[in-house]
Amino acid sequence: MHTNSHINPVIIASENGRAGAIAGMELLHRGGSAMDAAELAARVTEDDPEEHSVGFSGLPNLLGQVELDASLMNGRTLESGAVAGVQDYGNVISLARKVMEELPHVLLMGRGAERFAGEMGQKPADQRSFASLERWRKRFEETGVELTGEELRHLVTRLTVPMHLRDRVPHGTVNFLVRDSHGDLASAVSTSGLGWKYPGRVGDSPIIGAGNYCDNRYGAVACTGSGELAIRVSTARSLILYMKMGMDLAAAGQECLAEIEQLSPRPGQYMNIVAMTPDGQHAGFSTTAGKRYLYYTGEMAEPQMGERMTSEPV
Ligand code: GLY
Repeated sequence: MHTNSHINPVIIASENGRAGAIAGMELLHRGGSAMDAAELAARVTEDDPEEHSVGFSGLPNLLGQVELDASLMNGRTLESGAVAGVQDYGNVISLARKVMEELPHVLLMGRGAERFAGEMGQKPADQRSFASLERWRKRFEETGVELTGEELRHLVTRLTVPMHLRDRVPHGTVNFLVRDSHGDLASAVSTSGLGWKYPGRVGDSPIIGAGNYCDNRYGAVACTGSGELAIRVSTARSLILYMKMGMDLAAAGQECLAEIEQLSPRPGQYMNIVAMTPDGQHAGFSTTAGKRYLYYTGEMAEPQMGERMTSEPV
Protein backbone atom coordinates (compact mmCIF):
# COMPACT_ATOMS: atom_id res chain seq x y z
CA MET A 1 0.00 0.00 0.00
CA HIS A 2 1.27 3.50 -0.81
CA THR A 3 1.64 6.22 1.79
CA ASN A 4 1.69 9.89 0.88
CA SER A 5 4.99 10.51 2.63
CA HIS A 6 7.88 11.55 0.38
CA ILE A 7 10.74 9.09 0.64
CA ASN A 8 14.18 9.88 -0.72
CA PRO A 9 14.59 7.97 -4.03
CA VAL A 10 17.65 5.74 -4.47
CA ILE A 11 19.28 3.97 -7.41
CA ILE A 12 22.02 1.39 -6.92
CA ALA A 13 23.75 0.02 -10.01
CA SER A 14 26.68 -1.90 -11.35
CA GLU A 15 29.66 0.22 -12.35
CA ASN A 16 28.48 0.53 -15.98
CA GLY A 17 25.08 1.96 -14.96
CA ARG A 18 25.92 5.68 -14.76
CA ALA A 19 23.94 6.99 -17.78
CA GLY A 20 21.00 4.75 -16.95
CA ALA A 21 21.01 5.85 -13.30
CA ILE A 22 20.93 9.53 -14.31
CA ALA A 23 17.95 8.92 -16.62
CA GLY A 24 16.21 6.83 -13.95
CA MET A 25 16.73 9.46 -11.24
CA GLU A 26 15.27 12.19 -13.45
CA LEU A 27 12.17 10.06 -13.81
CA LEU A 28 11.99 9.43 -10.05
CA HIS A 29 12.25 13.18 -9.38
CA ARG A 30 9.23 13.67 -11.65
CA GLY A 31 7.28 11.16 -9.53
CA GLY A 32 7.96 8.08 -11.68
CA SER A 33 7.65 4.60 -10.20
CA ALA A 34 10.53 2.32 -9.28
CA MET A 35 9.48 -0.10 -12.03
CA ASP A 36 9.47 2.62 -14.70
CA ALA A 37 12.83 3.99 -13.54
CA ALA A 38 14.45 0.53 -13.44
CA GLU A 39 13.20 -0.28 -16.94
CA LEU A 40 14.29 3.11 -18.34
CA ALA A 41 17.74 2.86 -16.75
CA ALA A 42 18.31 -0.58 -18.29
CA ARG A 43 17.04 0.57 -21.71
CA VAL A 44 19.51 3.47 -21.74
CA THR A 45 22.34 0.99 -21.09
CA GLU A 46 21.02 -1.46 -23.70
CA ASP A 47 21.09 1.29 -26.36
CA ASP A 48 24.68 2.40 -25.61
CA PRO A 49 26.96 1.25 -28.48
CA GLU A 50 30.04 1.61 -26.23
CA GLU A 51 28.71 -0.94 -23.72
CA HIS A 52 29.71 -4.43 -24.89
CA SER A 53 27.97 -6.50 -22.24
CA VAL A 54 24.36 -5.40 -22.68
CA GLY A 55 21.90 -4.91 -25.55
CA PHE A 56 23.06 -3.46 -28.87
CA SER A 57 26.78 -4.10 -29.36
CA GLY A 58 26.79 -6.87 -26.76
CA LEU A 59 29.38 -9.61 -27.18
CA PRO A 60 28.30 -12.46 -29.47
CA ASN A 61 28.20 -16.19 -28.77
CA LEU A 62 30.62 -18.64 -30.41
CA LEU A 63 28.77 -18.36 -33.72
CA GLY A 64 28.81 -14.55 -33.78
CA GLN A 65 25.15 -14.15 -32.75
CA VAL A 66 24.15 -11.72 -29.97
CA GLU A 67 21.78 -13.50 -27.56
CA LEU A 68 20.29 -11.27 -24.86
CA ASP A 69 18.88 -12.09 -21.39
CA ALA A 70 16.97 -9.79 -19.01
CA SER A 71 14.65 -9.73 -16.03
CA LEU A 72 12.73 -7.25 -13.95
CA MET A 73 11.00 -7.60 -10.57
CA ASN A 74 8.39 -5.54 -8.72
CA GLY A 75 9.15 -5.48 -4.98
CA ARG A 76 5.60 -4.50 -4.01
CA THR A 77 3.79 -7.35 -5.80
CA LEU A 78 6.65 -9.85 -6.29
CA GLU A 79 5.63 -10.03 -9.96
CA SER A 80 8.51 -10.63 -12.34
CA GLY A 81 9.17 -11.04 -16.03
CA ALA A 82 12.19 -12.40 -17.90
CA VAL A 83 13.47 -13.32 -21.35
CA ALA A 84 16.46 -15.43 -22.37
CA GLY A 85 18.45 -16.10 -25.54
CA VAL A 86 16.74 -13.35 -27.56
CA GLN A 87 18.23 -12.52 -30.97
CA ASP A 88 17.44 -9.49 -33.16
CA TYR A 89 15.62 -7.41 -30.52
CA GLY A 90 17.59 -4.98 -28.35
CA ASN A 91 15.38 -3.71 -25.53
CA VAL A 92 14.95 -7.03 -23.76
CA ILE A 93 14.23 -5.34 -20.42
CA SER A 94 11.01 -3.93 -21.90
CA LEU A 95 10.21 -7.34 -23.37
CA ALA A 96 10.67 -8.86 -19.90
CA ARG A 97 8.22 -6.31 -18.52
CA LYS A 98 5.70 -7.21 -21.22
CA VAL A 99 6.03 -10.90 -20.30
CA MET A 100 5.18 -9.89 -16.73
CA GLU A 101 2.25 -7.69 -17.70
CA GLU A 102 0.72 -9.47 -20.70
CA LEU A 103 1.27 -13.19 -20.14
CA PRO A 104 0.51 -15.69 -17.37
CA HIS A 105 4.25 -16.58 -17.43
CA VAL A 106 7.52 -15.37 -15.92
CA LEU A 107 10.19 -16.44 -18.45
CA LEU A 108 10.13 -16.70 -22.25
CA MET A 109 13.10 -17.92 -24.25
CA GLY A 110 14.46 -17.88 -27.81
CA ARG A 111 12.02 -18.10 -30.69
CA GLY A 112 8.94 -17.70 -28.50
CA ALA A 113 10.32 -14.53 -26.94
CA GLU A 114 11.18 -13.15 -30.40
CA ARG A 115 7.68 -13.95 -31.67
CA PHE A 116 6.23 -12.19 -28.61
CA ALA A 117 8.47 -9.14 -29.23
CA GLY A 118 6.92 -8.85 -32.69
CA GLU A 119 3.42 -9.14 -31.24
CA MET A 120 4.27 -6.37 -28.78
CA GLY A 121 5.26 -4.08 -31.65
CA GLN A 122 9.03 -4.18 -31.15
CA LYS A 123 11.01 -3.73 -34.38
CA PRO A 124 13.65 -6.36 -35.15
CA ALA A 125 17.20 -5.04 -35.61
CA ASP A 126 20.68 -6.57 -35.80
CA GLN A 127 22.22 -6.21 -32.34
CA ARG A 128 25.82 -6.72 -33.53
CA SER A 129 28.01 -3.65 -33.88
CA PHE A 130 31.21 -3.51 -35.87
CA ALA A 131 33.11 -3.06 -32.59
CA SER A 132 31.58 -6.12 -30.94
CA LEU A 133 32.19 -8.29 -34.02
CA GLU A 134 35.81 -7.11 -34.18
CA ARG A 135 36.29 -8.12 -30.57
CA TRP A 136 34.69 -11.49 -31.36
CA ARG A 137 37.06 -12.10 -34.31
CA LYS A 138 40.15 -10.93 -32.40
CA ARG A 139 39.39 -13.36 -29.60
CA PHE A 140 39.72 -16.30 -32.00
CA GLU A 141 43.00 -14.88 -33.28
CA GLU A 142 44.41 -14.31 -29.78
CA THR A 143 43.50 -17.77 -28.62
CA GLY A 144 44.56 -19.43 -31.86
CA VAL A 145 41.41 -21.51 -32.22
CA GLU A 146 39.47 -21.89 -35.44
CA LEU A 147 35.73 -21.90 -35.70
CA THR A 148 34.97 -24.96 -37.78
CA GLY A 149 31.26 -25.13 -37.04
CA GLU A 150 31.70 -28.53 -35.42
CA GLU A 151 32.46 -29.59 -31.88
CA LEU A 152 31.82 -26.17 -30.40
CA ARG A 153 32.08 -27.75 -26.97
CA HIS A 154 35.86 -27.93 -27.41
CA LEU A 155 36.07 -24.23 -28.17
CA VAL A 156 33.87 -22.88 -25.43
CA THR A 157 36.24 -23.48 -22.54
CA ARG A 158 39.29 -22.16 -24.36
CA LEU A 159 37.51 -18.98 -25.40
CA THR A 160 35.53 -18.19 -22.26
CA VAL A 161 37.90 -19.22 -19.45
CA PRO A 162 41.42 -18.40 -20.62
CA MET A 163 43.74 -19.15 -17.70
CA HIS A 164 46.45 -16.80 -18.95
CA LEU A 165 44.02 -13.87 -19.45
CA ARG A 166 42.10 -13.96 -16.21
CA ASP A 167 41.34 -10.25 -16.13
CA ARG A 168 39.97 -10.33 -19.67
CA VAL A 169 37.26 -12.93 -19.27
CA PRO A 170 34.37 -11.26 -21.06
CA HIS A 171 31.56 -11.10 -18.52
CA GLY A 172 29.31 -8.14 -18.12
CA THR A 173 25.74 -7.20 -17.29
CA VAL A 174 23.97 -4.17 -15.91
CA ASN A 175 22.09 -4.10 -12.57
CA PHE A 176 19.66 -1.46 -11.28
CA LEU A 177 18.02 -1.50 -7.84
CA VAL A 178 15.53 1.33 -7.41
CA ARG A 179 13.52 2.82 -4.54
CA ASP A 180 10.92 5.42 -5.51
CA SER A 181 9.39 8.25 -3.48
CA HIS A 182 6.59 5.92 -2.28
CA GLY A 183 9.14 3.47 -0.88
CA ASP A 184 8.46 0.85 -3.56
CA LEU A 185 11.42 -1.20 -4.79
CA ALA A 186 12.16 -2.62 -8.25
CA SER A 187 15.15 -4.40 -9.79
CA ALA A 188 16.27 -4.78 -13.41
CA VAL A 189 19.07 -6.83 -14.95
CA SER A 190 20.07 -6.95 -18.63
CA THR A 191 22.97 -8.67 -20.39
CA SER A 192 24.38 -10.22 -23.53
CA GLY A 193 25.80 -12.85 -21.20
CA LEU A 194 29.18 -14.48 -21.33
CA GLY A 195 31.10 -13.52 -24.49
CA TRP A 196 31.78 -16.52 -26.79
CA LYS A 197 29.30 -18.65 -24.87
CA TYR A 198 27.92 -21.86 -26.34
CA PRO A 199 24.79 -20.93 -28.35
CA GLY A 200 21.77 -21.16 -26.08
CA ARG A 201 23.72 -20.71 -22.86
CA VAL A 202 21.64 -18.80 -20.29
CA GLY A 203 23.22 -17.07 -17.30
CA ASP A 204 21.82 -15.84 -14.00
CA SER A 205 20.38 -12.55 -15.25
CA PRO A 206 16.94 -13.86 -16.35
CA ILE A 207 16.74 -16.40 -13.49
CA ILE A 208 14.65 -14.87 -10.72
CA GLY A 209 16.35 -15.78 -7.45
CA ALA A 210 19.80 -16.22 -9.02
CA GLY A 211 20.73 -12.90 -10.68
CA ASN A 212 17.78 -10.79 -9.58
CA TYR A 213 15.37 -10.58 -6.63
CA CYS A 214 13.33 -7.81 -5.05
CA ASP A 215 10.89 -7.67 -2.14
CA ASN A 216 9.67 -4.38 -0.59
CA ARG A 217 9.80 -5.95 2.90
CA TYR A 218 13.47 -6.99 2.85
CA GLY A 219 15.32 -5.37 -0.05
CA ALA A 220 16.62 -5.83 -3.59
CA VAL A 221 19.64 -7.75 -4.90
CA ALA A 222 21.21 -8.25 -8.34
CA CYS A 223 24.37 -9.86 -9.69
CA THR A 224 26.97 -9.46 -12.42
CA GLY A 225 29.81 -11.80 -13.28
CA SER A 226 29.88 -15.53 -13.94
CA GLY A 227 26.21 -16.39 -13.87
CA GLU A 228 26.80 -20.11 -13.43
CA LEU A 229 27.95 -19.37 -9.86
CA ALA A 230 24.86 -17.36 -8.89
CA ILE A 231 22.57 -19.99 -10.42
CA ARG A 232 24.19 -22.80 -8.42
CA VAL A 233 23.61 -21.10 -5.04
CA SER A 234 20.58 -18.86 -5.82
CA THR A 235 22.53 -15.78 -4.78
CA ALA A 236 19.96 -12.98 -5.12
CA ARG A 237 17.14 -14.70 -3.26
CA SER A 238 19.56 -16.12 -0.68
CA LEU A 239 20.83 -12.68 0.29
CA ILE A 240 17.23 -11.49 0.74
CA LEU A 241 16.39 -14.60 2.81
CA TYR A 242 19.40 -14.07 5.07
CA MET A 243 18.15 -10.54 5.77
CA LYS A 244 14.62 -11.85 6.32
CA MET A 245 16.01 -14.27 8.89
CA GLY A 246 17.69 -11.41 10.75
CA MET A 247 21.18 -10.85 9.31
CA ASP A 248 22.24 -7.30 8.53
CA LEU A 249 23.15 -6.34 4.96
CA ALA A 250 26.91 -6.84 5.35
CA ALA A 251 26.57 -10.24 7.03
CA ALA A 252 24.06 -11.44 4.43
CA GLY A 253 26.38 -10.39 1.60
CA GLN A 254 29.36 -12.09 3.25
CA GLU A 255 27.38 -15.30 3.59
CA CYS A 256 26.61 -15.21 -0.15
CA LEU A 257 30.29 -14.64 -1.01
CA ALA A 258 31.24 -17.60 1.19
CA GLU A 259 28.71 -19.81 -0.60
CA ILE A 260 30.16 -18.81 -3.98
CA GLU A 261 33.73 -19.44 -2.86
CA GLN A 262 32.72 -22.91 -1.62
CA LEU A 263 31.89 -23.75 -5.26
CA SER A 264 35.62 -23.53 -6.12
CA PRO A 265 35.13 -21.14 -9.06
CA ARG A 266 37.09 -22.00 -12.21
CA PRO A 267 39.93 -19.70 -13.29
CA GLY A 268 38.44 -16.45 -14.53
CA GLN A 269 35.07 -16.96 -12.82
CA TYR A 270 33.92 -14.31 -10.34
CA MET A 271 30.75 -12.82 -8.90
CA ASN A 272 29.66 -9.27 -8.04
CA ILE A 273 26.53 -8.47 -6.02
CA VAL A 274 24.69 -5.20 -5.32
CA ALA A 275 22.09 -5.02 -2.55
CA MET A 276 19.77 -2.45 -0.99
CA THR A 277 17.48 -2.54 2.05
CA PRO A 278 14.00 -0.96 2.12
CA ASP A 279 15.39 1.96 4.17
CA GLY A 280 17.97 2.71 1.48
CA GLN A 281 21.13 1.18 2.97
CA HIS A 282 23.23 -0.24 0.17
CA ALA A 283 26.35 -2.33 -0.37
CA GLY A 284 28.32 -4.06 -3.08
CA PHE A 285 30.13 -7.38 -2.71
CA SER A 286 32.62 -9.15 -4.96
CA THR A 287 34.78 -12.23 -5.03
CA THR A 288 37.43 -9.99 -6.66
CA ALA A 289 39.22 -7.16 -4.85
CA GLY A 290 39.00 -3.59 -6.16
CA LYS A 291 35.54 -3.78 -7.74
CA ARG A 292 33.11 -0.87 -7.40
CA TYR A 293 29.40 -0.15 -7.68
CA LEU A 294 27.37 2.96 -8.18
CA TYR A 295 24.94 4.69 -5.79
CA TYR A 296 22.75 7.71 -6.39
CA THR A 297 20.25 9.14 -3.92
CA GLY A 298 17.69 11.87 -4.50
CA GLU A 299 19.70 14.59 -2.79
CA MET A 300 23.00 13.82 -4.59
CA ALA A 301 24.05 15.96 -7.59
CA GLU A 302 25.41 12.94 -9.44
CA PRO A 303 26.09 9.21 -8.96
CA GLN A 304 29.08 8.18 -6.86
CA MET A 305 31.14 5.00 -6.78
CA GLY A 306 31.47 2.83 -3.67
CA GLU A 307 33.93 0.00 -3.00
CA ARG A 308 32.52 -3.53 -3.05
CA MET A 309 33.28 -5.63 0.02
CA THR A 310 35.25 -8.82 -0.48
CA SER A 311 35.20 -11.92 1.73
CA GLU A 312 36.26 -11.48 5.32
CA PRO A 313 39.07 -13.82 6.38
CA VAL A 314 37.65 -16.78 8.35
N1 GLY B 1 25.92 -12.50 -15.19
C1 GLY B 1 25.65 -12.59 -16.55
C2 GLY B 1 25.83 -13.91 -17.14
O1 GLY B 1 26.53 -14.74 -16.60
O2 GLY B 1 25.25 -14.17 -18.18
